[in-house]
Formats: sequence, C-alpha cells, structure tokens
Amino acid sequence: MQIVTTIAEVRAMVRAARARGDVVGFVPTMGALHAGHLALVDAVRPRARFVVMSVFVNPLQFGPDDDMTSYPRTLERDAAQAAAHDVDVVFAPSALEMYRRPPLVEVAPAAARSNEMALDAQWEGAIRPGHFVGVLTVVAKLFHIVQPDLAAFGRKDLQQLTLVRAMVQDLDMPIDIVAVPTVRAPDGLALSSRNAYLTAPERARALAVPRALHAMVAAWTDSGVTDADALTAVGRAVLAAESDVTVDYLAITEAERLTPVAAVAAGAVAMVAARVGRTRLIDNVAFAPPAAAP
Ligand code: PAJ
Repeated sequence: MQIVTTIAEVRAMVRAARARGDVVGFVPTMGALHAGHLALVDAVRPRARFVVMSVFVNPLQFGPDDDMTSYPRTLERDAAQAAAHDVDVVFAPSALEMYRRPPLVEVAPAAARSNEMALDAQWEGAIRPGHFVGVLTVVAKLFHIVQPDLAAFGRKDLQQLTLVRAMVQDLDMPIDIVAVPTVRAPDGLALSSRNAYLTAPERARALAVPRALHAMVAAWTDSGVTDADALTAVGRAVLAAESDVTVDYLAITEAERLTPVAAVAAGAVAMVAARVGRTRLIDNVAFAPPAAAP
C-alpha cells in the first residue's frame, strides 16, 4: 500500500489501475479510522480491484465553533489499518493541496440558495450552517480527483449519504454510491472518530443515545405505537433520564428526503443528534419491517 499526498500522484496510480482494467472503489474519510470506516472498505472491495481511501480533515465543512483543530489526526495508525484491509492507496493531501485558494466555485445543495426547509437545511444543516456545502464540495473534488466507479458512505451520517446521492444524480456523476450499515461498539454506541473525545463517565452517559433509538423502535415493534410524537416522546424520556445529555434534535422521518412523518411505517428512520459534555454525537435507526413469520 502507498500513501500519497498530491493529486498528481493519486491520479497517476488510478490511471495505471484503469489501464490494467481494474474497477476503482473509493472510501472518503477524515481519518482517525475505526471499524466503521473499515466496513466501508470491505463493502467496496468485492466489486473493486483497486481501492483508494482519502484521509483529509476538510476545513471547508467545519464551522467556526466546530472541532477542526482538535479533530484527531492519526495518519500513521490509519495507514496501518488501511493496509490491513487491503487498501491500495491512501490519499492524504494537505489543505493547500486541496484548496490552492478559497474556492470560487462550491457545490451547494439547492436549499442553501432558496432557504427553504429542504433536505439540507434541516437537521444537521440547520445546526451547522454551511456544513453540507463544505462536504459536497470536497466530495465532488475528491470524486473528480479519483474518478471512482463506486464509492462507499456510512448510514450513520444519513443526511450526508442522502445529499451525496442527490449530488451524484443531479450532476450526472457516473459513480455508484454504496450505503453501509452503521457499525456499533458491543454496548450499542455508534462508532465515531469523535467518541475519542468522551471521558469514561461521558461515554457511559452517551449510551442513552442508542438506547433512546432502541426504545423508540421497540415501542413501535412490540407495543404497536405508530404515532410519531408518541414515539419521539419515548426517546426523549430516555435521553432526559441521563444527566448532561443535550438533545439538538430527535425526529422520525421518511428515508428519502428525511421529511418528518406523523405516523410511522416500516422504512421510517429515527434520527438523533445530542451533545454529551462537549462532544456532539449523531445516530439513527430504521424502523424495520417485522421479520417474516416462519
Ligand atoms: P468521516 O466522519 O471520517 O466518515 C467517513 C465515512 O465513514 C462516512 O461515509 C461515514 O458515514 C462513515 N462512518 C463513520 N462512522 C461509521 C460507522 N460507525 N459505521 C459505518 N460508517 C461510518 O463523513 C466524513 O468523514 C466526511 O464528511 C467526508 C465524507 C469524508 C467528507 O469530508
């Protein structure tokens, strides 16, 4: 496995792979790799002979109050983990390599222009203004640099996944987007690079987040509650029972445009963002159809 830092180098390697006839898979990350990131690698590998992973903490997607400077940077460890999962090349550019100047052209989701409460303006978009412009701009740039046939994104960041799919459709990018289920720690907490910020007591309190989602799904599956407000109240009660957990949003939406629903049917999604101490966690689960009777 090679680590390269320039656009020219990664392009040359992809060009050589293509000349050999390889399908190219791509996994964009901000590093501080965990099993969730590696699941993305494993998801593209069966279809891609050549796998590129990017490791880039993208300044454009962090707001002034975000954790850009403290974001964990562990490139050496990341490279070892990527190599163990058969990644062919890690592309780890500097901010200057990616942004020679502040971009004059950005990829903005439509609502950033119209200000309507559309897909990107709500949930994470409402709390982190400009975040998705930064995400889509860097993902578009990385797609142009790597020119993959397929690229993997985690369901954990459901709104990001939905917007990347929309971008690929709207801008006719010939890339298959592979959605990968959320990888969790044995205790249920969704893996996230930001979990590294949690102290041991905070991490214990953070378990209220998956517990709340689980309680909502259980009330739907086991007790037949379908009213979204009633189900949300179940989740809120679990979160309120834990001290020092501040909810940014807790909602039940449909899965395509993440629009809130009044009644919950299979396929709807419960989404949550909460702060535990200074750490912001997001998570979601789908209301799955009941298992078929044997
Ligand atoms: P990052 O937070 O490093 O996540 C990289 C990819 O890993 C994303 O697609 C994310 O959804 C996925 N991921 C993170 N935790 C996961 C988990 N527990 N299970 C499954 N997948 C998980 O998301 C970003 O970086 C950036 O916004 C990026 C897309 C790289 C653009 O800068």
